[in-house]
Amino acid sequence: MAEDLSIIEGTKEEQYTALIPQIEGLLTGETDLVANMANVTAALKEQFGWLWVGFYVVKEDELVLGPFQGPVACTRIKKGRGVCGTSWQQAKTLIVPDVEKFPGHIACSSLSKSEIVVPVIRNNEVVAVFDVDSNEYDLFDETDKKNLEKIVALINF
Ligand code: SME
Repeated sequence: MAEDLSIIEGTKEEQYTALIPQIEGLLTGETDLVANMANVTAALKEQFGWLWVGFYVVKEDELVLGPFQGPVACTRIKKGRGVCGTSWQQAKTLIVPDVEKFPGHIACSSLSKSEIVVPVIRNNEVVAVFDVDSNEYDLFDETDKKNLEKIVALINF
């Protein structure tokens, strides 16, 4: 497909509905995991303009920073630490409306106010987490959870 993304306005659901087929197009025929994670982060960052969008990949006993868009970030997170490490430990999506109220939250950027972390699960194991940060409080909801879970399921890890 052409490497141009069509950015649309509308409700959050409408934006995801327009974006997901384009992400499928970007992933089709490409088997390289880094390339695919990189394009997924770029597509979401372009459409939604969030502060930070990216992957942390499970390597041995840590999460290690993968492809992302946004300010520089911490490179390694232990299981159970921060929102990302907790999502990994619990193998579930976490929506955090106010990061300052999440015990142990790791502040990579002081601009981050709310966050969603989606675990990437393959063969019953968390192999990565997908993290999105916003500079607005309470930005993420069930619509983001449903659609971001759908998007990470498209990537062949
Ligand atoms: N806030 C995350 C750390 C990663 S950055 O937000 C990019 C956490 O608490 O796990």
